[in-house]
Amino acid sequence: MTYGPSSGQLVRPPEHHHDEPYVPVFTGARRDELDTILSRYPTKMAALLPALWMVQDTYGWVSEPAVEEVASVLDLTPAYVKGVLSFYTMYHQHPVGKHFVQVCTTTPCNVCGAEDVVKAFLEHTGCGELGVTSPDNRFTVIEVECLGACGFATPVMINNEFIESVTPERVARIVAEHD
Ligand code: FES
Repeated sequence: MTYGPSSGQLVRPPEHHHDEPYVPVFTGARRDELDTILSRYPTKMAALLPALWMVQDTYGWVSEPAVEEVASVLDLTPAYVKGVLSFYTMYHQHPVGKHFVQVCTTTPCNVCGAEDVVKAFLEHTGCGELGVTSPDNRFTVIEVECLGACGFATPVMINNEFIESVTPERVARIVAEHD
């Protein structure tokens, strides 16, 4: 899956499912890409975040076999890779919808009504619950900590697209604009 930098849309490649054999990411051109990244850093460990991003760019999420592959190519333990992977909300440890919606619900946004924005997204996307992908696979909604736009409550990220001052009333239209 590619996060298109200009559109914020996801371009979804064939997914890697749990029951399919894992196909390594770091072969051929992607291995060359990783080697170029590695040449910029003094240690292999320093390339962990971009390596994880390359996996997610390929499969849309980072599976257990992918964790092991990343650990292997960077000479790290799978536990270390998993620890970093689980720290950042930008990385997905499970398949997610085409549009990954992150709503800030930290206190400044919360007092401005962020919880109602979350509810509106859960309702209009059909997700129903946080972290659950909608039946049409279009959306996954999560709450996140401060997105750095506290003066523009409530900020929402949909893939790479940043939307400020979202109110519950705006949500239906925002959802409709994301096919
Ligand atoms: S608290 Fe929501 S953007 Fe900072």
